[in-house]
Amino acid sequence: MKTAITELLNIEKPLILPGMSWISTPELVAAVSNAGGLGILATGPLSQAETQAAIAKIRQLTDKPFGVGVTLMMPGAKANAKVALDAQVPVINFSLGKGDWLVQEAKKYGGKVIATVVTQKHALAAQRSGVDALLVTGHEAAAHGGAVTSLCLVPSIADIVDIPIIAAGGFADGRGLAAALSLGADAVAMGSRFATSAESPLHQNVKTTVVAKDVEQTIYSKNFDGLYARVMKTPAAEQATKKPMNFFMAVVKSFKAAKMVDMPLWKLLAGLLSQFDKIRMLSLFGAATEKLEAATIKGDLDNGVQFIGQSQGVINDIESVEKIASRVMTEADTALNKYNRT
Ligand SMILES: Cc1cc2nc3c(=O)[nH]c(=O)nc-3n(C[C@H](O)[C@H](O)[C@H](O)COP(=O)(O)O)c2cc1C
Repeated sequence: MKTAITELLNIEKPLILPGMSWISTPELVAAVSNAGGLGILATGPLSQAETQAAIAKIRQLTDKPFGVGVTLMMPGAKANAKVALDAQVPVINFSLGKGDWLVQEAKKYGGKVIATVVTQKHALAAQRSGVDALLVTGHEAAAHGGAVTSLCLVPSIADIVDIPIIAAGGFADGRGLAAALSLGADAVAMGSRFATSAESPLHQNVKTTVVAKDVEQTIYSKNFDGLYARVMKTPAAEQATKKPMNFFMAVVKSFKAAKMVDMPLWKLLAGLLSQFDKIRMLSLFGAATEKLEAATIKGDLDNGVQFIGQSQGVINDIESVEKIASRVMTEADTALNKYNRT
């Protein structure tokens, strides 16, 4: 299938693996790119050296285009973005921050830049900054989707921008891809779906739980990491989202997150103080790391908290990336031709 996104990114299928911490690893990124989509590496939990090694590993595993994702407001993210630029990666995807400088640097070697946005205002600002495409994340999404559902957010942004759009949030099969294309998108990013694939490093206990849970079993709350985020509904998640974490405890725990990306504590403190209004949010974000790691890596849903989208209700199996990608394309063809009566 050819769309504005497949043309722009030089891929065969309009299917994107978004950057998901601990999940969008070199192996999963390469699996999605080898299946004809675009895998995006998550650099959130990686130091600069680890990001460099991960990019080298992806290049060993695939000769297809791939991307690197950076959440700009997080500790260590700008340094990781510079590593990606130095390595001249084909695609850079940024969220939560200003990416003008990324656009300028990537353009020098022909790299493409995708901005993740959740509002019309940010979509217009990103377009003005010169990005090549937008990743528009609706309310249904795992983690930090917007306040508005994909069904309304995607067409509202398609109406006001003239760059290609990747729709994210609630897309897990070919019906979803067909719907996204009808809404004005040019591709879908499937987080929960690819996270629940055979090649995904998501713990097997979580994968089987995703298959068992339905669309209603998620929680969307600001109390978990300081930003509105969607997590799997479990007793541990209900507890973790009941009230915001004690501020001082959150600051202490955020140091652990800084250590993970090899950021010196003085730098974290300087960062926190220079962005005083964001201090609480950053701290909560760091504090959430421990619980996310427990679920995603150790499979501990009794104490850990798992990012997952409402699309878990339409995920019914744990298949290979190749099988999921080709099935989505066949289903989308069927859905798009269903009402094509002469
Ligand atoms: C397990 C998991 C972990 C995620 N981790 C991150 C992350 O670290 N950073 C981020 O920007 N988005 C993260 N996301 C969100 C995805 O990038 C994407 O926006 C979302 O999965 C799209 O919605 P969907 O799950 O309905 O496909 C994560 C999603 C999942 C399922």
